[in-house]
Amino acid sequence: VLASITCTAPVNIAVIKYWGKRDENIILPLNSSLSGTLHQDDLKTTTTIVASEDYTEDELYLNGKKEDINAVRYQNVLKMIRSRATKLMDKKHCVHIASINNFPTAAGLASSASGYCCLVFSLAQMYGVEGDISAIARLGSGSACRSMYGGFVKWEMGVKEDGSDSIAIQVQPESHWPDMNIIVLVVNDKKKETSSTDGMQKSAATSVMMKERCAVTVPNRMRDIEEAINKKDFQTFGDITMKDSDDFHEVCATTTPPIYYLNDTSRYIMNLIHRYNKLSGSVKCAYTFDAGPNACIYLPAENTTEVLSLFMKHFPGDNIQTYYRGPKENIPSI
Ligand code: DP6
Repeated sequence: VLASITCTAPVNIAVIKYWGKRDENIILPLNSSLSGTLHQDDLKTTTTIVASEDYTEDELYLNGKKEDINAVRYQNVLKMIRSRATKLMDKKHCVHIASINNFPTAAGLASSASGYCCLVFSLAQMYGVEGDISAIARLGSGSACRSMYGGFVKWEMGVKEDGSDSIAIQVQPESHWPDMNIIVLVVNDKKKETSSTDGMQKSAATSVMMKERCAVTVPNRMRDIEEAINKKDFQTFGDITMKDSDDFHEVCATTTPPIYYLNDTSRYIMNLIHRYNKLSGSVKCAYTFDAGPNACIYLPAENTTEVLSLFMKHFPGDNIQTYYRGPKENIPSI
């Protein structure tokens, strides 16, 4: 064995959604996006990599199942890492990689984000890759670049064709707004029907909403939500978060053929939250849904007990699980 390493990386939950690519191969987005990074004690990927002269080929296992290492995304990542390596290049070798999520894969819980972030972070450690590596994580899965940092992170869409300016930038570290929690209500942990990759391609090609969203709506929201984060203004943050989630699902619904990620329980949660906020006279919590029915709820920590008891009243039983964003800085770590 020449080298071995184990790293972990956290999940991130977008409040301004990435949806649509301008380059399918090196994953360049049609719009910038912004997310909060979760607590990696709760939702995370752990990846172990071993490099050896005895291995005859690269291998990758995801939750114990062998993946096709020749898939273009894995190859793009491996090639980029090896081209920027400062270590291990003097000896002929291959790597064996094993990656495990402590949460359901492909259930709309951003498993590809923590997965590719962790893969790239561990490879970068092993090969001594310096400088920005978020653009390498982006080659694996767009949303993965945002998991490279804790706190609130934006992915700047960039304008260059080679993607060198399409990178993740930390807007604020976790310490800036530590009393912000995220509750995930797991409505359904089955694999989704339409993957994000397929869904966004179809939306970009057919939804009449895409043009306005990319040209006007998202740039305005990016500016406003960054300001809300800087000022710790939860009212504005929550409003924008829910609006962007609603619009994203509207884009999906106006895709041909239409894509529906939400189910009746998701819509029940949306109504419940709007009614609860209205009764409270302020935004107490804000939902956001990715490409699946599970709800992610952003809320100030002080509202957590009250909001949790509301959900427990409406969803008795054990199909609703809760996770927290927590106060620690969450970045990939060795
Ligand atoms: C709805 O990053 O999974 O979660 O780049 O094709 O791998 P690929 O897509 P992916 O898409 C995530 C879409 C989203 C919104 C978001 O996380 O910004």
